Amino acid sequence: MTDGVEAVFDAVAAAAAEVRAGLPERRGYTDETNPSGETVLAADVYADDRLEDRLTALDAVGAYASEERDGVVDAGTGLSVTCDPLDGSSNLPTGNVVGTVVGVYDDDLPARGRALVAAGYVLYGPVTTMVVARDDVTEYLVEDGAREPVGDVQVPAEPSVYGFGGRVSDWTPAFREFVRSIESAGELKLRYGGAMVGDVNQVLTRGGVFGYPAVDGSPDGKLRLQFEGNPVAYVVETAGGASSDGDGSILDRPADRLHGRTPVFVGNETTIDRLESAVE
Ligand code: AHG
Ligand code: MN
Ligand code: MN
Repeated sequence: MTDGVEAVFDAVAAAAAEVRAGLPERRGYTDETNPSGETVLAADVYADDRLEDRLTALDAVGAYASEERDGVVDAGTGLSVTCDPLDGSSNLPTGNVVGTVVGVYDDDLPARGRALVAAGYVLYGPVTTMVVARDDVTEYLVEDGAREPVGDVQVPAEPSVYGFGGRVSDWTPAFREFVRSIESAGELKLRYGGAMVGDVNQVLTRGGVFGYPAVDGSPDGKLRLQFEGNPVAYVVETAGGASSDGDGSILDRPADRLHGRTPVFVGNETTIDRLESAVE
């Protein structure tokens, strides 16, 4: 399985070069909507096509699913790979970071996070980097479609940044109170960029917490369990942090629908524990 997982992330690095090169002409919206009911950008569709093409060609991959596709693509036998092909794609027209999120499950989809054998993401920032979590977490520089390791990643012991999605007026009173307590303590700096991968990468680099909570009208929040919640929970927990859907580790959350959503909180264990006590 080791070769299969490495082959997956080599293919993602190769696709990342094509995705990044294809962004300039694909910043516009299409008239299509994805299974989550969101209007998709041309870049969402292109990234999905490139990843599906490269990943389903691998012998180690038996299934591919993405937030842009209704169903699972059958690719024979082997690992089930999920992609959020372009995370934070609404950041594209505004010139802010976007990313690609990858989950590698050793089970049929939809699957619980505990079935993950690896997870990671590509961050299309000033430079293109990739973070891969297996037994530990490694950061890579991605250049010309190849990835070079640059170091191990561990959540810093001291939290320093926080960022939560959605409108404050749409948060639950308990969550609003929790965030107010963080802000009045004055220990953390607000860092919220509108793309989960960029915000999670800041938490991995600086310590702290990122989340997208339940909001008025969407008790399961906005982010998708298979494509966003499980993979980043796996990365942050492997890096020594914690994750929660408000009740417990996201990796334990039941997975009954391919496009099911989940509240997402990831970061330092102490901060996640305080958050869970505040919202339970
Ligand atoms: P995607 O572009 O894949 O749909 O993901 C966008 C998600 C996530 O990246 C980010 O954390 C969140 O949407 C931002 O939502 P708001 O625009 O409501 O802040
Ligand atoms: Mn996303
Ligand atoms: Mn996306």
